[in-house]
Amino acid sequence: MLVVANWKMNPIELADARKLFSGIKKHVRNLKNTDAVICPPFPYIEPLVSTYRGKKVDFGAQDVYWEREGSKTGEVSAPMLRDIGAKYVIVGHSERRALGESDEEIAQKVQASLRSNLIPILCFGERKHDSEGAFLEVISKQLKTCLKDVSEKDIRNVVLAYEPIWAIGGGADNAMTPHEIHQMTLFIRKVLRELYDESASQKVRILYGGSVESTNSEALAKDAHVDGFLVGHASLNATHFGNILETVEKQK
Ligand code: PGA
Repeated sequence: MLVVANWKMNPIELADARKLFSGIKKHVRNLKNTDAVICPPFPYIEPLVSTYRGKKVDFGAQDVYWEREGSKTGEVSAPMLRDIGAKYVIVGHSERRALGESDEEIAQKVQASLRSNLIPILCFGERKHDSEGAFLEVISKQLKTCLKDVSEKDIRNVVLAYEPIWAIGGGADNAMTPHEIHQMTLFIRKVLRELYDESASQKVRILYGGSVESTNSEALAKDAHVDGFLVGHASLNATHFGNILETVEKQK
């Protein structure tokens, strides 16, 4: 199981980021079956990586640009992230899509990450969950476009994070039910099967994100049939995030 903390644009000061991380570190010592990944804002990645002596946590960024270097003011490239010790990168988060990022651009970000040996955590999910099932078409199109250049060999190194936009940022009541998430993972694997062979499609890790909290993580870990979670607001509290890690660890 893989549990990813998406700190988004928090906390405001490096000192608080260090404090949050030391709180989280206390909960990772006994993890055996669970990989923990922390995705802080860009300026905190290197300070946290360079002072961490343990092996239980990996680090990731929250975005990446698809070119290696050059005149791209404000952008950060995959080789730069790799060089400072990031292993993962979130791409296509709905909060970036809301700023205008397209599936085509996300496809380039996925490719650029793989070229630099970064594991892309590809986010996708519908804005509205209509009862006619039109959202399934949205998800299928997002996946097919974002993965269009990913080979059968490389797809194993991509992590998928299904995050229905309507479920993000609320309380635990906002999250999808374990049963609904399970149905979605079956659908996602069916889409993968249209693109890749059976073995590759089964190996891809599928995470769920959207109001995962310490109060619902046990039920989700037990019954949602996912390979882990992408956790937003609950990852800003070391005790809550630690509880999520511990419940996930217990399920396996
Ligand atoms: P949330 O955010 O856990 O606060 O809903 C998840 C995300 O946006 O990645």
